[in-house]
Amino acid sequence: MSKKVIVVGFGFMGQTHARNIANHPDLELAAIVDAIDPKIAMKKSAGNFATNTLGEDIISKVPYYKELTEAIAEVKPDAVVVATPTMLHYKFAKIVLEAGCNLFLEKPICLDPNLCDELVALAESKHLVFMAGHCVRFQKEFQYIKELVEKQTYGKPVYFHYSRYCGVPGWGCWTDPEVSAKSGGAMYDMAIHDTDCARALFGNPDEISVMPYLRDRFGLMVVDTCWKYNNGPIVRVEAGFLAPHTMPFHKEFTAIFEKATINCDMRGMTLSTPEGVKPIELLEVDCYEAEMAAFAQYLEKGEMPLECSGKDATATIRICTRFFNNKG
Ligand SMILES: NC(=O)c1ccc[n+]([C@@H]2O[C@H](COP(=O)([O-])OP(=O)(O)OC[C@H]3O[C@@H](n4cnc5c(N)ncnc54)[C@H](O)[C@@H]3O)[C@@H](O)[C@H]2O)c1
Repeated sequence: MSKKVIVVGFGFMGQTHARNIANHPDLELAAIVDAIDPKIAMKKSAGNFATNTLGEDIISKVPYYKELTEAIAEVKPDAVVVATPTMLHYKFAKIVLEAGCNLFLEKPICLDPNLCDELVALAESKHLVFMAGHCVRFQKEFQYIKELVEKQTYGKPVYFHYSRYCGVPGWGCWTDPEVSAKSGGAMYDMAIHDTDCARALFGNPDEISVMPYLRDRFGLMVVDTCWKYNNGPIVRVEAGFLAPHTMPFHKEFTAIFEKATINCDMRGMTLSTPEGVKPIELLEVDCYEAEMAAFAQYLEKGEMPLECSGKDATATIRICTRFFNNKG
């Protein structure tokens, strides 16, 4: 029998998840919760890149609630996807878990690692699935690099450099100064993706240094951190929100191994070895669809995710907080 799922926060991410829930054979989009009517929310939504959403005809058939507690009481869902502005994540996640529902929580799960611990403990005590929306782990490029690291196909990793920039978000709730100020800025909203990937590949770094000039000049809006593993690679994670808000989303990384270098940007990926350079063609994967399919499997098994669990995501939040504690 399909699992009933409520989506709370029907903006850019909520609509993306709603579409993947509605299209999944084992999930049912049981209700939408938002402060504004979903049909209006659909028109206001944009995002920094294109994702697929649902048609208005489908949305108008899904029950809509203004309050999550009312929706849970009436719908009795198996799970809730929380995709509200970050400052509301903890509040809604707690309501979901206390009601005995499984939880999918967008990244960053909460800015305060102690609150993350509290949610993790609550989910564990109630034997509920708690998965975080670290979608980049489901991207084909991450999966490819992970395999190279695990199999040491081209030797040991030496230096990984990630970069991710876009215009200051100008859609949905992001135009509200309070929402924007409490989002955690570039560290928690942008750099967190590559921070999470690097941590998933190499674990917690032994040392982190922060580029002070950028932090002093741009505050939370641009970050450049360099990580050292005593017995592993150097990692650099760079990210930012820049003006104007129309600036297109751009990401790239360079992964240097002992015997090869991978370059990846928005146009594609190449592998450079002493023999030459060749393009790497990978099968297309919709990472949002893949993460929701993984969530469906964990719901079916009633098991905590192996990857992207709340506990896993908390470890990533803890690295983000090192940015602020670093005096570099
Ligand atoms: N995984 C990713 O790639 C990715 C990408 C973008 C955003 N995000 C994360 O997703 C979350 C949402 O971001 P977004 O870009 O979708 O924002 P958004 O502004 O497009 O959507 C937020 C929605 O929440 C609703 N909302 C606000 N207050 C509410 C309340 N009290 N009750 C119910 N609904 C309420 C708004 O009306 C809006 O529809 C953020 O935490 C963000 O960091 C993740």
